[in-house]
Amino acid sequence: MDKILGIVFTNRLMRTIFYFFYSRYLIKKYAYKRPKFEDRDILERIIFPYVLARFNPKRILDIGREDYQWFYNEFFIGRELWTIDINPERQEFGAHNHIVDDVANLKKHFKDNYFDFIIMNGVFGWGLNDKEAIEKTFASIYDILAPEGIFVFGWNDVEDLTPVPIKNIKALQQFKPFYFKPLKSNTFKAKNGGHTYNFYIK
Ligand SMILES: C[S@@+](CC[C@H](N)C(=O)[O-])C[C@H]1O[C@@H](n2cnc3c(N)ncnc32)[C@H](O)[C@@H]1O
Repeated sequence: MDKILGIVFTNRLMRTIFYFFYSRYLIKKYAYKRPKFEDRDILERIIFPYVLARFNPKRILDIGREDYQWFYNEFFIGRELWTIDINPERQEFGAHNHIVDDVANLKKHFKDNYFDFIIMNGVFGWGLNDKEAIEKTFASIYDILAPEGIFVFGWNDVEDLTPVPIKNIKALQQFKPFYFKPLKSNTFKAKNGGHTYNFYIK
């Protein structure tokens, strides 16, 4: 299987075709029903397939895991996937390489420039709420992301889930905004809950 994937992954057109169909297969098989352009639809149907096809990331970090996300591991088959969550009960939904710890401690676990793709969705404002820990987390994400690596930051643009205004987070300003072609912007607000995706490149 790994050999076949290795061949498919070498060519961008083949990856694009593969992830178009594979993402739809995974969604149909495992995902709960959701309207188009709801946050999770965007993540699974648009963001993951595009990042995987366009950047072919070898090492991926997914921060924060809920029960409805256990099948996300399947998106990243044939790649080195890591997950981290502060809650030990979430370990069973994580990747084979899972860490139970506060995301603010990322630098304890990874060396600089390690990951090609990092996603942190629904953690800021959902536990990651302390101002210092927020700065430390984004600074660490920047450090452990490889040059030209992609960082997708999903958050809820509503007052009670925004512990610090995004524009005031100093460590985030190190990243360059990345124009995410399928969504025609470097930031995209979903149809529900003010859920917003910001796209960055190092
Ligand atoms: C609302 S859930 C969202 C998770 C998921 N990434 C998603 O896309 O829906 C928030 C998750 O973040 C985890 N979390 C909250 N604060 C954290 C922190 N400081 N470090 C690591 N994980 C944290 C929680 O345990 C929970 O599993």
